Amino acid sequence: MIVIFICLLRQNEGEAWVSCKIPGKPTLYGTLKCHGISDEGVPDLVASEEFRVLEISKKSLHISCPELNTSAKFLAPHTSFGQIHDKSVTCIDVSCGGGLGVSTSTNGTLKVWNCTNGEKRRDLSGHIYDVNCCRFFPSGVVILSGGMDAQVKVWSAEDGSCPVTFKGHKGGILDTAIVDKGRNVLSCSRDGTARLWDCGKSTCLAVVADCGSPINGCSVGVADNTINLGSPEEMTSEREVGTEDKLLLLAREDKKLEGRGLQSRQCVFLFEGSDAFNCCTFLSSVYIVAGTQNGNIYKLDTRNTRAPVTTIHRSGAPVLSLMPYQEGFFVSQGDGSCYLIQQDFDHVIELTGPDIDPVYKVATWEKCVFTCCRDGYIRKYQLSDL
Ligand SMILES: *[C@@H]1O[C@H](CO)[C@@H](O)[C@H](O)[C@H]1NC(C)=O
Ligand SMILES: *[C@@H]1O[C@H](CO)[C@@H](O)[C@H](O)[C@H]1NC(C)=O
Ligand SMILES: *[C@@H]1O[C@H](CO)[C@@H](O)[C@H](O)[C@H]1NC(C)=O
Repeated sequence: MIVIFICLLRQNEGEAWVSCKIPGKPTLYGTLKCHGISDEGVPDLVASEEFRVLEISKKSLHISCPELNTSAKFLAPHTSFGQIHDKSVTCIDVSCGGGLGVSTSTNGTLKVWNCTNGEKRRDLSGHIYDVNCCRFFPSGVVILSGGMDAQVKVWSAEDGSCPVTFKGHKGGILDTAIVDKGRNVLSCSRDGTARLWDCGKSTCLAVVADCGSPINGCSVGVADNTINLGSPEEMTSEREVGTEDKLLLLAREDKKLEGRGLQSRQCVFLFEGSDAFNCCTFLSSVYIVAGTQNGNIYKLDTRNTRAPVTTIHRSGAPVLSLMPYQEGFFVSQGDGSCYLIQQDFDHVIELTGPDIDPVYKVATWEKCVFTCCRDGYIRKYQLSDL
């Protein structure tokens, strides 16, 4: 892993410190010096002998460390939106088509904005206390949110109305998931339960899990057909959910990652990690990833979860979000780092900008990546700038 303290680089004569760390080898340190900035705005960088600048543009930097045979790409934000929220931005999503964004903050704040210029479009008011999570339905015109007030709400992004509020949880909502097109949605809570809701009828279909420990994150996906999800218990839920059962992942505070049949409500696997699980997501019908409070990212094969396929540990900072992207996935952590791990784990793209403030969430649309951070900024990156 190559780390750059990049803050001073934009200034003429600026200097940055670089370190490169490979497990089991001594860490190498060096510097990058800026000797001026071209008319196009590209800094002229010279690296100390341990490092090489392979490529540089206005927004990106590719440097290598020949001695340790590794390289990394750094991408600066294309635009930063600092005026959407005045406090930390805790969750973000973008609509299909990439036109609208939605984000959450403290004190009931939930906002819809234009992804191109950050212009505010709607204030969705109705939650009390902090709003923890938000996401667009696949249609891109309906939004699902959950807050500390234990309410799950469905909103129209077009007129800002809230036609449906689900009540039943006895603690703050920590995450949500949408089943298929969104007739049914899921929520998980500090109260230790995950609930399945019917949007059309505004009712709770089932308490899908009751873990006795807060559920920090959830994700629903299609499971590989070799996995036995158990047989459905109740006919009602089968009809509501559809004919094909889904696999539900629960990231639990008690250090367990659970896989559960959504219809059968039977535990399919239970994986014990090194600390509380904060987040989990599907990479495919076979592979999943989950992140813990002490910085571990486990990649698991759902057909055999006895041992992880790989464990990634870059720092002890909490893993706050995981987002599949093409053949890899984005990771954001509590130390301000946010990066894309590609299939082979060798080529990492680092998103720069936040200093040491936690990056809570990543949302993507095609080559556009949005992040939200405790420093109150929503940052937009263009992978096409690389
Ligand atoms: C450096 O990495 C390349 C590609 O990953 C590999 O082919 C090569 O053998 C490595 N060289 C050393 C000295 O480890
Ligand atoms: C966002 O703003 C741009 C520029 O003003 C405009 O062209 C675009 O239609 C807006 N998009 C949405 C979804 O409102
Ligand atoms: C929280 O929101 C309410 C309603 O919008 C407002 O009246 C109050 O001043 C806000 N409190 C803080 C601390 O911002």
